[in-house]
Amino acid sequence: MDAEFDQRDQRREYQAAALSRGSLAADPLAQFAAWLEEAAASGIKDPTAMALATVGTAGEPSLRTVLLKHFDADGFCWYTDYRSRKGRELAGNPNAALLFHWREWDRQVRISGTVERLPAAQSDAYFQSRPAESRFAAAASVQSAPVPDRKTLEQALAALRRRHPNDAPPRPPQWGGYRLRPDAYEFWQGREGRLHDRFAFRRNGPDGWTVTRLQP
Ligand SMILES: Cc1cc2nc3c(=O)[nH]c(=O)nc-3n(C[C@H](O)[C@H](O)[C@H](O)COP(=O)(O)O)c2cc1C
Repeated sequence: MDAEFDQRDQRREYQAAALSRGSLAADPLAQFAAWLEEAAASGIKDPTAMALATVGTAGEPSLRTVLLKHFDADGFCWYTDYRSRKGRELAGNPNAALLFHWREWDRQVRISGTVERLPAAQSDAYFQSRPAESRFAAAASVQSAPVPDRKTLEQALAALRRRHPNDAPPRPPQWGGYRLRPDAYEFWQGREGRLHDRFAFRRNGPDGWTVTRLQP
């Protein structure tokens, strides 16, 4: 790594806010909702972007960005192609982790748990809500499969458009949503002088959480 980048990192101060036992919500979902709301209200790009980590059959991790589409007490949901690498890995191992980084707020949230597919009706409803162009693109591609060139993709899309001249295609059965049911969270707030605040929540029952402050 270039020394100049390191110099810049070293000069950077974390001064956005603080996190204390007193200000921390008792329910991690409420804490997450408050931070997401603040991030979204401040107008930053893609506040719902999250890194999704999955595990392959040999125990190797893999990561990619997806967009959080909804969340509630049942978990955190996103949509994708079930045939993609992440889809294949989740079919073999439902353990996964999410990571949000709101750099403008010096905040990070880690969430881990187990993943399940959303009911088909919910995936249908979300697919229908998407713009026609996105529906065509999703239906024309087998996510993560190799393709010789861009022209092949464009031809697949054009063929699909010819088969559906009047309206976008229905949801392909291999495209849909997932939900991660969290059993652990960690909230990180950058602080001045690098003495950051960290709080871990671990599930200790259906609705209960054990909260621990961690050293930075
Ligand atoms: C900001 C951003 C948002 C993305 N959102 C999604 C998404 O919601 N769903 C999705 O399948 N891929 C999304 N992608 C693409 C994924 O990062 C990834 O390339 C794709 O899902 C294939 O990953 P896989 O081969 O590991 O399954 C997004 C990428 C970026 C940079």
